[in-house]
Amino acid sequence: MTKASVVINADVALGKIDRNIYGQFAEHLGRCIYEGMWVGEDSEMPNIDGIRKDVLQALKNLSIPVLRWPGGCFADEYHWKDGVGPREGRKRMVNTHWGGVIENNHFGTHEFFRLCELLETEPYICGNVGSGSVQEMSEWVEYMTFDGESPMAKWRQENGQEKPWKLKYFGVGNENWGCGGNMRAEYYADEYRRYQTYSRNYGDNKLFKIAGGPNIDDYHWTEVLMREAGRHMDGLSLHYYTMEGGWENKQPALGFDESGWFEVMKKSLYMDELITRHTTIMDKYDPEKRVALIVDEWGTWFLSEPGTNPGFLYQQNSLRDALVAGLHLHIFHKHHERVKMTNIAQMVNVLQAMILTEGDKMLLTPTYHVFEMFKVHQDAEVLQMAVETPNYELNGDSIPQVSVSASRKDGVVHISLCNVSPTESSSVRLDLRGIGADGQVSGRVLTADSMEAHNTFEQPENIAPQEFNGFERGENGTLNVELSPMSVTVLTIKG
Ligand code: AHR
Repeated sequence: MTKASVVINADVALGKIDRNIYGQFAEHLGRCIYEGMWVGEDSEMPNIDGIRKDVLQALKNLSIPVLRWPGGCFADEYHWKDGVGPREGRKRMVNTHWGGVIENNHFGTHEFFRLCELLETEPYICGNVGSGSVQEMSEWVEYMTFDGESPMAKWRQENGQEKPWKLKYFGVGNENWGCGGNMRAEYYADEYRRYQTYSRNYGDNKLFKIAGGPNIDDYHWTEVLMREAGRHMDGLSLHYYTMEGGWENKQPALGFDESGWFEVMKKSLYMDELITRHTTIMDKYDPEKRVALIVDEWGTWFLSEPGTNPGFLYQQNSLRDALVAGLHLHIFHKHHERVKMTNIAQMVNVLQAMILTEGDKMLLTPTYHVFEMFKVHQDAEVLQMAVETPNYELNGDSIPQVSVSASRKDGVVHISLCNVSPTESSSVRLDLRGIGADGQVSGRVLTADSMEAHNTFEQPENIAPQEFNGFERGENGTLNVELSPMSVTVLTIKG
């Protein structure tokens, strides 16, 4: 067992953890929208207005603050007008990015807003720059948000929505350095300026405009966008995926050994460096931190499950993914001043999903459980702390073994702890200043005996949070906590 120590100043709040850091992403990709959520009103599966009830109920329990749609790469091929009006008359298209399957456009703008309403989540819509036009984007915003007499408002009303929706978060293109048009930063910066000009604020609907940001460590992109278009944006996006191997030799979600575990932990921690370096550039042009960094795609990307369409990006989700989620969320908390929203990819059946479905069966993944356990951090004040942790070493390389984040809301302190070592437990001495450990302490833990523990449709409860009792009170307001190997723990302390 290793030893770690953490000092938490519960009376020193550093700023708010924006609840949008716990955002999700749902793309027209594989079985994320169709089957995963949308089954249609005539389905035999219990549904509300075409959206399956079981998935809806489970997602509601996550208190999802914001949901990004319709892509991803799909967004820059999506023509929104094909997805409104009577469903039987909607145009069919080929989803060229994702498996070459037919998209029947049955899930469109109205269905998306209904989903958001049912989930009580804020919509975040990504518009089409790559293959769309300025007019098309401008009319979409008019369709959704204009209250008054106009061609688009009239069409919306004819399609059954009398009043405009409220829409705050609007993305002007996606990955425009790649699938969104293969543009240079200089070219996209100008395109961004042009497209956003005609994405109007109607009435009291004020758009929060998000520019397509860099791929991973493309610092040049951030520099150019901030310099040339920074004053026209409210947010700049960032995408980074965690994988074992590289893009060309990705490894499966299961069946890995300890070096595969270690690699994925280390690559998760790289998010910290990425945010720090992009933030440094943003600080140069925006020292007031007016422009938010929006990490609107992150998570694990493994080989698709054998026997599934590789274009559907369907992968299993194990305890390793749970640790990835915990580490990322801690990093986002740490960067709360600049990072105001993130959207894990993706909500159902795609990449690091919350939920997997098979026909009418459904399971909650280890990642789901981390999001559920961590939701207590949403909109809480992040607390000042100092962490001393041993390293987890493998094959001559090392990373910190214990990652911690603490927040306070309504007088209650929550401390989340990740132990990334698959073999060593850690005894953590928590020095709780400004609250002490005399009050009521409780905890929950997500762990298992195997690195690749996961849930299946046959055993959907194989890995789920358990009550955590591995703590005892020490002297002078300290709490000694024993973290199992490969575990995610959340403590609740009521002063
Ligand atoms: O999330 C899957 C894909 O990854 C998205 O469509 C794209 O933006 C990214 O490359």
